[in-house]
Amino acid sequence: MRAIHVTAHGGPDILAAVDVADPAPGPDELLVRVGAAGVNFVDTYFRSGLYPSTPPYIPGAEGAGEVIGVGPDVTGFGLGDRVAWSDVPGSYAEVAVVPTSRALRVPDGVADEVAGSALLRGLTAHYLLDGSAHPQSGDTILLHAGAGGVGLILTQWAVSRGVSVITTVSSDAKEELSRAAGAAHVLRYDDDIPARVRELTDGHGVAVTYDGVGKSTFDASIASTAIRGTVVLFGAASGPVPPFDLQRLNGAGSLSVTRPTLAHFIAERSELEWRADEFFGAIADGVLDVSVGQTFPLADAADAHRALESRATTGATALIP
Ligand SMILES: NC(=O)c1ccc[n+]([C@@H]2O[C@H](COP(=O)([O-])OP(=O)(O)OC[C@H]3O[C@@H](n4cnc5c(N)ncnc54)[C@H](OP(=O)(O)O)[C@@H]3O)[C@@H](O)[C@H]2O)c1
Repeated sequence: MRAIHVTAHGGPDILAAVDVADPAPGPDELLVRVGAAGVNFVDTYFRSGLYPSTPPYIPGAEGAGEVIGVGPDVTGFGLGDRVAWSDVPGSYAEVAVVPTSRALRVPDGVADEVAGSALLRGLTAHYLLDGSAHPQSGDTILLHAGAGGVGLILTQWAVSRGVSVITTVSSDAKEELSRAAGAAHVLRYDDDIPARVRELTDGHGVAVTYDGVGKSTFDASIASTAIRGTVVLFGAASGPVPPFDLQRLNGAGSLSVTRPTLAHFIAERSELEWRADEFFGAIADGVLDVSVGQTFPLADAADAHRALESRATTGATALIP
């Protein structure tokens, strides 16, 4: 099969398409023909070496496709089923092995491109709203990168729960998308974000700040959050936040800061199913409009990474084998 190989840490150029042997499913594993593989920011962290990984490896953490083989002891799934998965390595390939413990049935009406590139972000948006923090109807939240993959889903879901959303974005086109997703106010990174947020919240600040941008926004996140509020630092698109003096949380309003990761919120099968059912259900009910922002042929994975890292993408990004 064709697959993308990472042979050393580095820039997008190291993502090369190669021929490798088809994998074989082991016990409780499915062999899946990948219809679409999601391109997530975390893939760039592993590729660059920011997060630990051991080359050579096939990148990619999520995808969707058709079951074309089953290993020993598989129950509950069969040939021809359409499944999606997240938090499983090796999706940038024509064929992937997916443990049944991570496989989820894709409802009719949800295309592979959507399931394969938005499930991880959908599960993330769900645990950010129902796990890392719990904003309530009537609360206001601040969300950086409002037109990104996580950003568009989280905005729509929060608004559907009566939460008012303030976002940040870098361009007019992204502002338009963020507003269409339901953001009440859209700021730019070069605004005085804390001052603007205080203005928009009668001086209080927001109940929760969701920060997936990291280094360049973290100080503004702290300064925009209300007394006893929570800052959820869930990513590092601009780079990791440098070491932080916890004493600052005292003066900033007895804030809580958490640095979560999806794996800890879907570790149990029941929790994974709950979050995935709510995600697919919200698409079916029209609560979430999840369209794929851009697709690339599998062989052009390097271009997909370049686009993501240069802020040229909106919404989710899919590779099509
Ligand atoms: N912890 C978890 O469980 C978890 C799970 C999934 C994703 N994440 C994190 O969530 C964040 C969003 O993920 P995503 O895949 O949906 O990506 P994304 O939001 O579609 O893309 C990242 C966005 O960050 C913004 N950004 C700001 N400064 C940037 C910079 N210096 N370089 C690049 N981008 C910059 C850009 O939007 P603007 O141009 O509008 O600024 C860019 O489009 C990422 O940090 C990712 O690592 C965390």
